[in-house]
Amino acid sequence: MRITMLTLFPEYFDSFRTTSIIKRALERELVTFETVNFRDYTLDKHNKVDDTPCGGGQGMLLSVQPIADCLKAIRTPGSLVVMMTPQGRTFNQQTAHEFADISHLIILCGHYEGFDERIRSYVDMEVSLGDFVLTGGEAAAVVIADAVMRLLPGVILEDSHADDSFENGLLEYPQYTRPIEFEGKTVPEVLMSGHHANIRKWRLEQSLRRTMEKRPDLLENRTFTKEEQKLMKQ
Ligand code: ADE
Repeated sequence: MRITMLTLFPEYFDSFRTTSIIKRALERELVTFETVNFRDYTLDKHNKVDDTPCGGGQGMLLSVQPIADCLKAIRTPGSLVVMMTPQGRTFNQQTAHEFADISHLIILCGHYEGFDERIRSYVDMEVSLGDFVLTGGEAAAVVIADAVMRLLPGVILEDSHADDSFENGLLEYPQYTRPIEFEGKTVPEVLMSGHHANIRKWRLEQSLRRTMEKRPDLLENRTFTKEEQKLMKQ
């Protein structure tokens, strides 16, 4: 997979590409990550990429020409162009899986007060991180790239995905590591029993309980298995 960030601030992604799991994935060439500065495509003689809103108003808007020309130059038949904006579809784990199947993901990061509306006609979809406004799309784009890259084969242990929060529609169960006791707080006995069937059952029950408590909305359209129904009645 290839991920291309269209941004006026390529340096924003420096720590992302040089830290921890993502750094290792890039070194092992499990994914290609690149930044393209769309300022390089402006035809303005002063290198401008923004302008004041027609009809008046505060702030500056990104102009259509540099972004449209940049997209025309870098788009490939296998690419999906995603624009980061609070008006987009809210990103979630399912979207992360959809993006992880795409051969070339292009993420357009806005800045300043917004985009010229015509930019929307050059992108395939708009994605938001949630109902809040950021100063630019870069912070949101890093989140998306991280969530997508960790799903790619070999980036993290494959087994680790299955139990992630949201992967089975439930929040992840509680986890513990040594010491067995700390300041009177102990690890649940079942986890030390070595009894795999009981551990699996306990984890499922905890996931259900947790989801009911913290995120009941996730259960609204769920079809519960017989085992889950039984665990919930206990
Ligand atoms: N750009 C500014 N705010 C944003 C948000 N909430 N999600 C994605 N991109 C954004």
